Amino acid sequence: MTNHLLALSDFSKQQLQSLIVRAIMLKNESLEGVRHQQLAGRSVCLLFEKPSTRTRVSFESAMYRLGGQVIFMSAKESQLGRGEPLKDTARVLSRYVDGIVVRTFGQEVVEELSKYATVPVINALTDLYHPCQVLSDIMTVIEKKGAPENLKIVWIGDGNNMANSWIEAASVFGFSLTLSCPEGYEPNAAVLEAARKTGVGDIRLVSDPAEAMEDADVVNVDVWASMGQESEQEKRVKLFQPYQLNAALMGKAKDDAIVLHCLPAHRGEEITEDILEGTQSVVFDQAENKMHIHKAILELFIGGSTEVTNQ
Ligand code: CP
Ligand code: NVA
Repeated sequence: MTNHLLALSDFSKQQLQSLIVRAIMLKNESLEGVRHQQLAGRSVCLLFEKPSTRTRVSFESAMYRLGGQVIFMSAKESQLGRGEPLKDTARVLSRYVDGIVVRTFGQEVVEELSKYATVPVINALTDLYHPCQVLSDIMTVIEKKGAPENLKIVWIGDGNNMANSWIEAASVFGFSLTLSCPEGYEPNAAVLEAARKTGVGDIRLVSDPAEAMEDADVVNVDVWASMGQESEQEKRVKLFQPYQLNAALMGKAKDDAIVLHCLPAHRGEEITEDILEGTQSVVFDQAENKMHIHKAILELFIGGSTEVTNQ
């Protein structure tokens, strides 16, 4: 059975927890100077249709640090950009590499690739989800604050791909997630409904950002216009102003609350410079953890030492 990582809701709490536990172990081992080689002789193709700094380099570095190799291909420079079908691309790449890490627009692209690939397909961001990022974010929460089930986690701003993956995470892990998004920019309705249907976790939408922030332990923000929404940037900057994470809004959270941002950040828009650079911000530890969680993901999905069984 081939296993893919397309969305967090495809996995159990135990499966996601063990990925995080393993990532923390790999992080500690590399700090102790252990040189890993479990993916020696394996390779993955990174197939990216959107720009990336962190996800690309952390996946590449994760693969190299486990002894493996990476082939990066931007979709527009490949035959995909000239209209070659996804189903052909998936079957051809499966003959060359041990896994395909994809950053693209529609979630249906990763789904179609996974249908035809005979190697694991890993979602490195779509318009709908950013599952690997949210796994590293939860790893960061665990390191800084402990089990997410005991915390009030807040999302402020656009109900985007990150928000959708946080919603899925809340319904798998069973934590409290309060989202405050401008009217018309709420998270995906189907994702929300499916998450609530599980009866796991406590997912609330609160229109007033100040109310949402009350007693928060963890505060999440992201850009107001995601990749592909550049033409809406100006309109969103005006509309989203009350959702800016600044000192006034931060004052509503607990004194020891932490601030997460998957980056890249737009200072002066979704977050002010003082908050991003302040003592409560953990964004660079969060960025580092992407590499460690990617090592755990690659080890499990590409290494195949342990079979991942989707629910
Ligand atoms: N956080 C994140 O996915 O960043 P990149 O777009 O730089 O990969
Ligand atoms: N929501 C952002 C995340 C970037 C890592 C985007 O999709 O552009």
